[in-house]
Parts: sequence; C-alpha cells; structure tokens
Amino acid sequence: MIPFYIETYGCQMNVSDSEVVASLLAGSGYVPCSRWEEARILLINTCSIRENAEKRVMNRLDHFARLKKKNPQLRVGVLGCMATRLKEQLLEHPAVDWVVGPDSYRHLPAMMGSPASAPLQTQLSLTETYADITPYRGREQTVTSFVTIMRGCDNLCAYCIVPYVRGRERSRDPQSIQAEVEALQKDGFKEVTLLGQNVNSYRWKAGEETVSFAGLLERIALAVPNLRIRFTTSHPKDMQDDVLHVMANHHNICKQIHLPVQSGSNAVLAKMNRKYTRETYLDRIRSIRTILPGCGISTDLIAGFCAETEEDHRLTLELMKEVRFDQAFMFQYSQRPNTLAARHYPDDVPEEEKTRRLSEIIALQNRLSLESNRADVGKTMEVLVEGTSKRSEEDLFGRTDTGKVCVFPKGTNRVGDLVHVRITSCTAATLKGDIV
Ligand code: 5AD
Ligand code: SF4
Repeated sequence: MIPFYIETYGCQMNVSDSEVVASLLAGSGYVPCSRWEEARILLINTCSIRENAEKRVMNRLDHFARLKKKNPQLRVGVLGCMATRLKEQLLEHPAVDWVVGPDSYRHLPAMMGSPASAPLQTQLSLTETYADITPYRGREQTVTSFVTIMRGCDNLCAYCIVPYVRGRERSRDPQSIQAEVEALQKDGFKEVTLLGQNVNSYRWKAGEETVSFAGLLERIALAVPNLRIRFTTSHPKDMQDDVLHVMANHHNICKQIHLPVQSGSNAVLAKMNRKYTRETYLDRIRSIRTILPGCGISTDLIAGFCAETEEDHRLTLELMKEVRFDQAFMFQYSQRPNTLAARHYPDDVPEEEKTRRLSEIIALQNRLSLESNRADVGKTMEVLVEGTSKRSEEDLFGRTDTGKVCVFPKGTNRVGDLVHVRITSCTAATLKGDIV
C-alpha cells in the first residue's frame, strides 16, 4: 500500500474534491496518511481565483522539488483549477509528475499506476459529478462535512476564472445527494454544507418533474432531521423567496446566507456582468430580513475592479453600511488570463489605490462585524461544538446557527455536542460565552 497525502488550497469545493480523490485512490491500493512527511505521493489541489493563490502553490511546488532531490521515490501530482489553466507548463516544473484537472480525477489511479500512461488529463466534462463516489472523510473530520450538489459555473462574471477552469454548470442527481447526507447522519456527523458555485441554479429533470434548489433543500431537510444544513454560494440574481421560505419552515436549516455583492455601484456591477443592480440586491436583503429575521448575512467584495472610480468605491462602502453584513470576504481585484475582463477592460486602478480601497473596506467591515457581534451579547445561542479552541485547551469552539464562531469553557462537553451558550463578550471575529 503506497501512502499519499493531499494538500488542499482554495475554496470548500476543493476540500470536497480532495475527499473524492482520496476515495478514488483508497479504493485502488493507496492509503491516505495525515502527515505529508509519511507520504510517497504528494497531491496538491490548487486554486486559480487570484494571482496570489497561484503564487502560493508555485512556492509549494518549489519546496516539493527540493524534497524530491532528497527522496527520489517521491511523486507529485497537481490537481484542481491550476491544472486546467496551466496544463503542460506545470509538467515542466521539476517537482511535477502528473497534472489532473477537476473533471479527470477518475483517471488518477491508472495514471499513477502505470508509467506508460499520459501524465496530463485536463479535459473538462459536461456531465461528470462524481455522484457515485462516496468521499473519503479523514478521521479528524467527524462533525461537519461538505457535499457537492453541482459543479462548474455558467455565469461568466467578467473577473472570474471559474467557468474556464471548472467548466460548464451541471447538477448532481438528488437521489445520490440524499443518500450521501443520510450516510453522514448515520455516521454521526452533525452538520452538512451543500456546495455549488451558484446553488440557486441547481436543476434536475426527472421525467415530468424538475427539482429546483428550494425543492432539493426541503427534501434534504426532511431526510436528515438530526443534521444541521448550510449551503453556499447563493447568487443575488437567482436567489428567490422560495428558498427563504424553505429555510423558515425547517429548524435544521441554519439561518445563514452567503450572498456575494462584489460592488455597490451599478456601473461596476454591469461591467462585472453580475446581472443585478444595487437596488435588486437590496431588495433580496429586505426579503431575507422579512422572511428570516435574525438571519446571518455574509458577502464577498472586490476592491479596484477595472475603471472603478472613487465614487463607485464610496457606493460600495455605503451599501455595506446599509446592509450591515455580519461577515465579509474582501479582495483586491486580480486580473485573470482570458476572462472577459482581461480581454475587454484594462486593469487600470493602480495597485496602491486598490490596496487603499481594500483597507477602507476591511476597516468598515471590522466595525460592522463588531457591532453585529455586540448585538448578540446577552443572547443565548445554539452552538455545535466543532473542536478545541486554538487559543486555549480549556475552551471549545463552534458555530452558531447564524454562522458565527463562538468560544466557551469546556465543562463536560465534547466535540459534536449541540449546546446552548449565553454570549457574554465578543471581538469582531468571535463571540465568547458560557454554556447554560
Ligand atoms: N480578483 C479578485 N477577487 C476575485 N474573486 C473572484 N475572482 C476574483 C478576481 N479575479 C472573488 C469574488 C468571489 C470570490 C470567491 O472570490 O469576490 O465571490
Ligand atoms: Fe465566478 Fe460568478 Fe461563478 Fe461565482 S458565480 S464562481 S463569481 S463566475
């Protein structure tokens, strides 16, 4: 049995894909190990979303090349989005033996087993969903889990490389999704996050019947009453009230929505090809607040997209204040090769200007997150215990229904318990409290 180790970069979708790869290999004579030092095969699952993400992976490959000099038996494979984007170029790197894109993982065991097989497989597929593969979940992961419900993306946001590296959008059949979450519940898991680049366009046709995302969500909520359910990512142009009503009707669906806005300016949103306006975004927020009072709302923001003016930037800050996001992931625009923006618009906001705008966005969001957390002080919230706090062995951490991280003294509780915590204090990033 040959030991392998997978290092994962990028989004939750990659975490989920690495589990599919581990499962494919574990069924073919390879054995997963939890430390890379013990592995004969190193696989690196990569992300192309921003230039920085790619740089980190290239540095890691340089490190692997040095390891290979000391240990010539070592083999290295590059998986994920960079595999599709860079193809042969990656094979030229001294560390790299195999390059395998997100839709080609079924080829991996054969490639690894035979020196005669081609070392590069990056064809994208219109149909691959790995629906029949039960992901391998390591022993460290026993409470929360991801389940991929669809792959690829058809939206063509101007800045985004995802449609080019992960291919066309396709949904996974609801039966196999349900079977997978039922198995998770049986194995003692307590929470599942359903994953897709744009979950609201989930669609499965079975004869006369079409299953929408709202339909799938309801079906899953009923099938696994003992699992908490989250999902990501929602797209503002497609998120309708039907999903919100399903969330309101099922206590096991967490009251948290990730709704990336990217910008508060209509001119920038149009250029980004997001297909909604500031006004329609705010309308979606109003629906969430009306149908799901107290729902956690998070977002993604990009600073310094092509031709973004100071006024556009100000509109983003204004929108943030109006919505009062609980959390946000904030980025500086990074031009990606071959995207609509790279082909049509100059990357013309100077680097220091992008950095300044991003730091203003981050400073404002820190204030909003702190205010949102302060509003929770005094409340008692349901928290799923996920592990021991990084700061102290005496404390546990978990997440509230609304998606906030919460830290509290251990007492007699264990990982996987659902506890009630009275919030006593907070920072911008964390709630602190005591179990009641
Ligand atoms: N530059 C900066 N941020 C980007 N994102 C996607 N593409 C880019 C890019 N080229 C951000 C968006 C998206 C999140 C996953 O990453 O905010 O929602
Ligand atoms: Fe990129 Fe848009 Fe797809 Fe999100 S929905 S991955 S931003 S193309």
